[in-house]
Amino acid sequence: MAEHTDDASKPLTSLEKLSRRSFLSRAGAMGVATAAATVAPVVASAEPERPQPQGDPAAMPETPGTIPITLKVNGETHQLRIDPRATVLDTLRETLHLTGTKKGCDHGQCGACTVHVDGRRANSCLLLAAMHQKAEITTIEGLGTPQKMHPMQAAFVEHDGYQCGYCTSGQIMSAVAMLHEPWGDTDTDVKEALSGNICRCGAYPNIVAAVQSVRRHA
Ligand code: FES
Ligand code: FES
Repeated sequence: MAEHTDDASKPLTSLEKLSRRSFLSRAGAMGVATAAATVAPVVASAEPERPQPQGDPAAMPETPGTIPITLKVNGETHQLRIDPRATVLDTLRETLHLTGTKKGCDHGQCGACTVHVDGRRANSCLLLAAMHQKAEITTIEGLGTPQKMHPMQAAFVEHDGYQCGYCTSGQIMSAVAMLHEPWGDTDTDVKEALSGNICRCGAYPNIVAAVQSVRRHA
């Protein structure tokens, strides 16, 4: 979709598009534009650091019904107390405040919550956190930083592979996993590989272009 400045004859550069999205992301963080806040994962974790509940779980105040667990996320080990029924998705978002991973359907059907578990993509809404204490979990925040984006994140920006951004972190996590999976070279392979990641905005052509650009240079 073409984007234009106030001067309708002058198309936006990639940098200007990125700047616009960075602004929208900040606006979303203020509660002004909820949808725009989801763009943050595209340029990696732009959210400010928040205090994370850590420490010896045995020494933590015991909320009735919670259990102590150890979770390794983005290379960091976290000692937590959680509801034993908590999913990886809810633990990431609500306990660790890693909100780059999105909750769409919460039923394993949209792919918005895709993370890597031991290097393989998985729908985090379907996984119990308490059963993944020995796993290496990677989220969009662990993939790159705004200063040093993963090539797939940079490609999504370059190819305008998102609109509202809600599906984007899941799309990127699936696309990165795809790089290590035995798929063919064609656009059809990309569409098939990412078919579990739904984009309600219909950014699919640009997503495919972004993924292919990385695959060609991999
Ligand atoms: S939120 Fe997990 S697949 Fe939709
Ligand atoms: S960019 Fe909006 S859902 Fe995919």
